[in-house]
Amino acid sequence: MMSKKISRRTFLKAALASGIMLGGGMIIGCEKDVPAVNALKVKFLRQIITKDPATSRVIMWQSDEPLTAPSVEIQINGDAKQIAAQDSTFTDDDKEIIQYTAQIDDLKPNATYEFKILDGDKSTGTFTLKTCDENKFKGIIFPDSQSADYNVWGGVAKAAFEKNPDAEFFINMGDIVDNGEDTEQWQAWMTQVEEPLTKIPFVPVMGNHECYTRDWKERYPISYLNYFAVPENDNHYFSRRYYSFDIGAAHFMILDSQWAELDAFAPGVVDAQLNWLRQELLETKKAWKIVCVHRDVLQYKINGRDDWREGISEVGVNFMPDFDYFNVDVVFTAHLHTYRNRGHIRNFNDDPTGPLYILTGVSGDVRYPGLWVNHTLDKVVAPQPETDNFLTIEGDEKTLLIKCFLPDGKQIDEVKLVKNSNTTP
Ligand SMILES: [Fe+2]
Ligand SMILES: [Fe+2]
Repeated sequence: MMSKKISRRTFLKAALASGIMLGGGMIIGCEKDVPAVNALKVKFLRQIITKDPATSRVIMWQSDEPLTAPSVEIQINGDAKQIAAQDSTFTDDDKEIIQYTAQIDDLKPNATYEFKILDGDKSTGTFTLKTCDENKFKGIIFPDSQSADYNVWGGVAKAAFEKNPDAEFFINMGDIVDNGEDTEQWQAWMTQVEEPLTKIPFVPVMGNHECYTRDWKERYPISYLNYFAVPENDNHYFSRRYYSFDIGAAHFMILDSQWAELDAFAPGVVDAQLNWLRQELLETKKAWKIVCVHRDVLQYKINGRDDWREGISEVGVNFMPDFDYFNVDVVFTAHLHTYRNRGHIRNFNDDPTGPLYILTGVSGDVRYPGLWVNHTLDKVVAPQPETDNFLTIEGDEKTLLIKCFLPDGKQIDEVKLVKNSNTTP
């Protein structure tokens, strides 16, 4: 467990370079094409988003035992290319997680590749990797999945992937697990999406629950930062806490809203992100500018509590003026475990020229029935009392289509944006 007195440099070095092992866990891979004596067993093989998923991919996996010469072998134009993996083992929750990370570059857009994990003369079965198109794209967005029973999260995820086999990536909006230090929860979460993780890149957003110790004290999110080797931002001080990537015709910016939890360990993330965000928004040539941030931009009144008033949250006050100024198209938020589409907001008011704001809902079993009083800016609210939901996002350089579904497949909301003439039906 991290002391608040440890120097940040020492802390980050330890957090990003230490080691582990998950107890149990399923063995994945398609070992049927590998002789048993040479079969390599890996766990929780996962594809992670890169800056440009049309041409690259990060592959991570875990192992019960240290590997001696781990690599990824990918078939490119009939040739087998081997990429050495880095040892990214770390320790958290008093457990060593033995894991490896490899980045594959120089791929062609919109192409399918086969790859294996190797260690000496041992090999896994074959996995498939599909690079993204440079224009069209489709993904699934899951809100908070933190759970007491991760089978609930698994049910929502299963429904989403079965109904959207063409999804090219999936996002989790933060509070991925209920307790960020608890290794068993990470294992339970990954077990429920073990197969999708091997097939399409995962886009994590950090939530406040990633930043708690087992006894619910604030701490640096060691497991979150080590499990997901997302692209680096411009500031090593906040490594992996916020990042961006292109996919199809969109530029996604993933923000960190956990300064209340993490300023004691690494202060200044709001200003650092604002500087970074402005540069990102100035430089991107993509048609759609999309932000994902865990905490919501609005402040809600709570039923029966006169001391809570509706308004704009600290995240909103800090970031919405820049979202306005740089004409961000869509802002996805989470944290409140309720689905609400507010339409377009500018200058903190209803305005069709502003960014579209969607509070994404809940995909685990932690629900807050009847808690929130509807906000003046809410346009669409999920049927009450809420259960779970997921969203899809798809588009090209002309249109962007966002839909929200219940796990039974019932669609509860839809927004279509058309470039240069945004409309919200
Ligand atoms: Fe949450
Ligand atoms: Fe949260």
